[in-house]
Amino acid sequence: MSYPYQIRSLEQYHNDYQRSVADPARFWSEIASYFTWKKYWHHVTDWNFSEPHIRWFEGATLNITENCIDRHLATKGNQPAIIWEPNDPNERHRVITYNSLYQKVCQFAHVLKNNGVQKGDRVCIYMGMIPELAIAVLACARIGAIHSVIFGGFSAQSIADRLYDANAEFIITCDGAYRGQKDIPLKSVIDDALIGNRTVKRVIVYTRTRTPVSMIKGRDVWWEDEIQHVVEQGYTDFPAEEMKAEDPLFILYTSGSTGKPKGVVHSCAGYMVYTNYTFINVFQYQPGDIHFCTADIGWITGHSYIVYGPLSAGGTTLLFEGVPTWPDAGRFWDIVDKYKVNILYTAPTAIRSLMGFGDAPLQGKDLSSLKVLGTVGEPINEEAWHWYNENIGKGKCPIVDTWWQTETGGILISNLAGVTPAKPAHATYPLPGVQPILVDENGNEIEGNSVSGNLCIKAPWPSIIRTTYGDHERCRTNYFATYDQLYFTGDGAQRDADGMYRITGRVDDVLNVSGHRIGTAEVENAINMHAGVVESAVVGYPHDIKGQGIYAYVIYNGHHVGDEELTRRDILQTVTRIIGPIAKPDKIQFVSGLPKTRSGKIMRRILRKIAENELGSLGDTSTLLDPAVVDDIVKGKL
Ligand code: WTA
Repeated sequence: MSYPYQIRSLEQYHNDYQRSVADPARFWSEIASYFTWKKYWHHVTDWNFSEPHIRWFEGATLNITENCIDRHLATKGNQPAIIWEPNDPNERHRVITYNSLYQKVCQFAHVLKNNGVQKGDRVCIYMGMIPELAIAVLACARIGAIHSVIFGGFSAQSIADRLYDANAEFIITCDGAYRGQKDIPLKSVIDDALIGNRTVKRVIVYTRTRTPVSMIKGRDVWWEDEIQHVVEQGYTDFPAEEMKAEDPLFILYTSGSTGKPKGVVHSCAGYMVYTNYTFINVFQYQPGDIHFCTADIGWITGHSYIVYGPLSAGGTTLLFEGVPTWPDAGRFWDIVDKYKVNILYTAPTAIRSLMGFGDAPLQGKDLSSLKVLGTVGEPINEEAWHWYNENIGKGKCPIVDTWWQTETGGILISNLAGVTPAKPAHATYPLPGVQPILVDENGNEIEGNSVSGNLCIKAPWPSIIRTTYGDHERCRTNYFATYDQLYFTGDGAQRDADGMYRITGRVDDVLNVSGHRIGTAEVENAINMHAGVVESAVVGYPHDIKGQGIYAYVIYNGHHVGDEELTRRDILQTVTRIIGPIAKPDKIQFVSGLPKTRSGKIMRRILRKIAENELGSLGDTSTLLDPAVVDDIVKGKL
């Protein structure tokens, strides 16, 4: 047995599950005892969901980087920790061993310190998918600064909002980032985000694309120069800061059903234990396996299953800079072949998109190293599941359908590869320590099997969200107030005859576009910023590749009325500026009015049905202020 707490049989799963529910404190303290602590805890867990007040391993102190790096040095120093595949397949790849990762993280921790970063400071990281991104994240953790990684596809305005919310004083970025054919000018986006900003003191810039950048004296410094200073100073080690179990490790912004994105806060100990535990058990990781998670580190999947989970397990994690379809749609398969990847973890949207290219991109690619496949981020349809199983796994690799969220830190419901049964399109059973429950609209538990309802969780697991940064009340109302004493996920789910869960999608006003969460209110706010837009309403509709597409109904009375195409393009440009290209509506329909109740509330249900083309089931429209608008909207449907 390679990890003492790795579940190796169905029987053991049932056993461990029972133990985890019967005595969570004992269960998790046993697992936690295998980690490196500076001080042990006096309380395993202490919680109530009404505030919420959630603590794990209280009294303990640790540093997560000692668990991700230092403790592996004696036995695995020369093993690859990170394998990096560049965007351009003709550029040399990089292999970073644990020894080398240690050195790089320590050096960069000195750079941070030299630039005034202290424990508890918020450091915003806006970089492409290069090893230095992981190094920056780990260096923050090493000195106890709170990292907040922002996905490279977000706009200057989105960054400015996040910098302000987190009150961040430091930024780590690159001159630019390569993604497929594109060269994204990251530093220039940061410069725009910093116009009017008064809190950011220092911007550290890594050279990746050699795109010309403006470097402001006194504020901006080059990563390479700063490392040079550290080397000249002769520093090699950096003692890991002693962190309390509940000190925040990072903030990650995510969309909700209302207003601006929230800063989800995860803390050091619980997050470490749970991401490690789920990484080892869900994927059945064995030492030496090459784990390839195709997510971006800018999302929670990258945090937990590219960086912290694999490294805390002493594993080898593959970091890919590019996109699945460039230079051609065989790129993932080339990478699997080149590095003999054992575990491939990707999103249904990528599978559906690659499926569309047929068999040709698979020709001549040796995928025989694959042992386990995984999906995450959105429900996987059966067709995509079977294609993945047959064409990529060749019918031999278990597929883990992992359900979880930014707020949950790690995987909550999933089969364990080859250990517990899989079922197409089903996340199946909860991980030990996780107690799902389905409730109806009034919060009454729906018991038994072959039922569906809103998915909640009864008790905390170690990596549950602790707070939303700067606004604890928002955390309470969003997740813990809908149903008394339950964590509400925002998802709907079915429980089948065997008690297996199938997640059906969001039940709130959050869209899931290509596995990315986007709030309808956020998109509406962005559209409404466009001059001439009077009002808008945004809903999702089924999209073959993206899972959900964005459908916007817009009332417009501005310049260019009549030239719809031009106005559409302008609106898309506005959304790109305000949020980023990922939030661009797929369809914009200009309407003269929106269906509203007499109290002025938009009836989204009707708009959703129209967007989904379910015109026969619009339901009762008689309560609307002006039922005639519905006919007009139906007539103009795209
Ligand atoms: C959805 C991503 C079905 C769900 C880790 C959830 C899924 C949201 C699955 C969280 C899955 C994630 N099956 N739906 N296996 N995994 N989701 O925060 O709606 O980016 O609430 O975290 O994605 O998205 P987030």
